[in-house]
Amino acid sequence: MRSTDSTSWHPASWQSRKAAQQPLYDDPTALSRVVAELARLPPIVVSWEIENLRERLAAAQRAEGFLLQGGDCAESFADCESDRIAKQLKVLLQMSLVLLSGMKKPVVRIGRMAGQYAKPRSADMETRDGVTLPAYRGDLVNRVEFTPEARRADPQLLLRGYERAALTLNFVRALVDGGFADLHHPEYWDLGFVRHAELREAYQRIADSIGDALDFFQSLTGRAVHDATRVDFFASHEGLHLLYEQAQTRFISRQNHWYNLSTHMPWIGMRTAQVDGAHVEYFRGIANPIGVKIGAAMDDQWLQQLVTTLNPQNQPGRLTLIHRFGAKDIEKSLPRVIEAVRRTGHTVLWCCDPMHGNTETSTGGLKTRRFENILKELDLAFRIHAQQGTYLGGAHIELTGEDVTECTGGARGLTDADLQRTYRSQVDPRLNYEQALELAMLIAERSKQKP
Ligand code: PEP
Ligand code: CO
Repeated sequence: MRSTDSTSWHPASWQSRKAAQQPLYDDPTALSRVVAELARLPPIVVSWEIENLRERLAAAQRAEGFLLQGGDCAESFADCESDRIAKQLKVLLQMSLVLLSGMKKPVVRIGRMAGQYAKPRSADMETRDGVTLPAYRGDLVNRVEFTPEARRADPQLLLRGYERAALTLNFVRALVDGGFADLHHPEYWDLGFVRHAELREAYQRIADSIGDALDFFQSLTGRAVHDATRVDFFASHEGLHLLYEQAQTRFISRQNHWYNLSTHMPWIGMRTAQVDGAHVEYFRGIANPIGVKIGAAMDDQWLQQLVTTLNPQNQPGRLTLIHRFGAKDIEKSLPRVIEAVRRTGHTVLWCCDPMHGNTETSTGGLKTRRFENILKELDLAFRIHAQQGTYLGGAHIELTGEDVTECTGGARGLTDADLQRTYRSQVDPRLNYEQALELAMLIAERSKQKP
């Protein structure tokens, strides 16, 4: 294994390593032109926001907070519109409110949004009826229709993705600053399509008790509630397409560090986490808080090298390990992983992704996940971390604020047959609004239990 040399990093040093999951472009000159243009455009986020997030994640790592990271598996360009973005923000804010009230801890909210446009694929090519074309790699790279033209990797899409990421975050910032996230704002409380009576009531109780507490606070301190409850919202995406990420990597002299300014918290996906690979090389040099997806196939040495390579100074809040074993494997894998990390002497923020280890094919052939398996993996994660003396400080969820039918189960008991009704995801199945809110309530409850 190649050793990492901390002195020779620069934003393009990853190019001397093997880069998995990168598209093949047929016009390198057009690609270079686009990358140069991206590098000139103003950043989407700024370094002090990134530093603020790292401090919050450091607090969560000390068990003084909880990370809620959620959103689509893949955003699509077509979905970049106001209603959908507002709904996505709303479900995340409502979930965070439920978690806050149950855990009595600040919740760090990070969307899988404003840039979640590139997807890793298990195969480079896809064959249908004897025709073989490049796989769909997300709207940042190509388009989902099964035609040679749509599946061609088009560099212009990098610019379109960048622009949509900026539009999305601009709208989210305006909503948050404009009072959408004020706890007294009616939009914030509205339950939309949640029709399940018990869920509505449980949510209403939480909302009322927080409302009462806020009124009490206001009368006691004379301070406006909006000031006291100001919400911060951060963006994240899988840092997969390295030319895109490199183009937005800037040296901020005031901080004396390099930052990826396309998002607050990029993460390394499971398929690109090779210690001597290009992604780890790129990520080790940026100062953002970063995540790494952890699966059962990673052995102890691999894990330990990831932790020491990506966070050599053991900086609090820098590294979040997002484990995704599946309800079936977590009992076998998580204790080993915790022990391996413990032996490095480094600390990390532990976050559970209960989605990606629980994907299956439904009887009708659609990709789905069962709510009960998602909940079970989270339950086991809380229990195992408590037994091991570590703190489960976050959950990473694929969800949408809309009334889709992609995952089965939940309070309204969606079945395989229901999936056909409103299945919209081009990639992984997401919890719908109601299921996401229910999950937040169950997490809030479970996190209070002792092992
Ligand atoms: C994802 O988060 O959508 C994903 C592809 O996850 P993983 O890298 O854990 O498989
Ligand atoms: Co996914």
